Amino acid sequence: MPETILVFDSGLGGNTVLREIVKLRPGARYVYVADDAYFPYGQHTEAEIVARVVPLIGELIEAHNPNLAVIACNTASTLVMDRLRDTYDLPFVGTVPAIKPACASSRTRRVSVLGTKGTVQREYTKKLIADFAQGCDVKLIGAGNLAALAEAALKGERVDDRDILAEIAPCFADGGTRTDTVVLACTHYPLLLDRFIALAPWPVDWIDPAPAIARRVSDLLGAPSTSEPQAAQIVFTSGEPPSATLSKALGPFFGASVLA
Ligand code: DGL
Repeated sequence: MPETILVFDSGLGGNTVLREIVKLRPGARYVYVADDAYFPYGQHTEAEIVARVVPLIGELIEAHNPNLAVIACNTASTLVMDRLRDTYDLPFVGTVPAIKPACASSRTRRVSVLGTKGTVQREYTKKLIADFAQGCDVKLIGAGNLAALAEAALKGERVDDRDILAEIAPCFADGGTRTDTVVLACTHYPLLLDRFIALAPWPVDWIDPAPAIARRVSDLLGAPSTSEPQAAQIVFTSGEPPSATLSKALGPFFGASVLA
């Protein structure tokens, strides 16, 4: 029996984590759940997110019986991981801002963390900075609309450069030494990485933790199954079927697994 891996996000961003897991474990059965009925999480209060996500994950475990669940959303992971582990008997992997590796590799010692307005306000994120800034100056940048822009781009809609630049520009601090490292602290943002690189006022290292998260998943699950690629499933909590354009855009994230 191939293992089942549940990947959960508020929307489509968690696919950037899923694609890295698929590279390491192409024979697993994938269930991707987008809580689009409640998107974007960045606009909800902490209490609302906990009350939404904890029971919903319980329902998804019942429905899909996964071997492991990935909360591929920083806005949720920075709040709910302890509660999920206390409530459900399943291995969980979360996604939280990659502040430690970013600060370890920054040469100018100026790092920006680009996340949702929720993620940058979290106590969890502030504690990561207190524990792992290693003397770097860390700037927290809360983007109000960037996850929605990333979804629009993935759905084939036109997204204006100016709208993207308005969200990322505050990451670039100048004056003496410049920011040289930006943490992508929302799983949606790697979807726009090419645009970020093209629009950046100067080159920086963009830190995407997805490959490290995939390695963690794989370590927890042990030797990968040798099964052929399985049929994968995408669930939208709104019940809306994806458009043909979106289904086509999502296909490559799943490698050789075919979207059912
Ligand atoms: N993908 C989510 C994250 O990593 C956030 C998007 C949202 O605001 O729902 O934080």
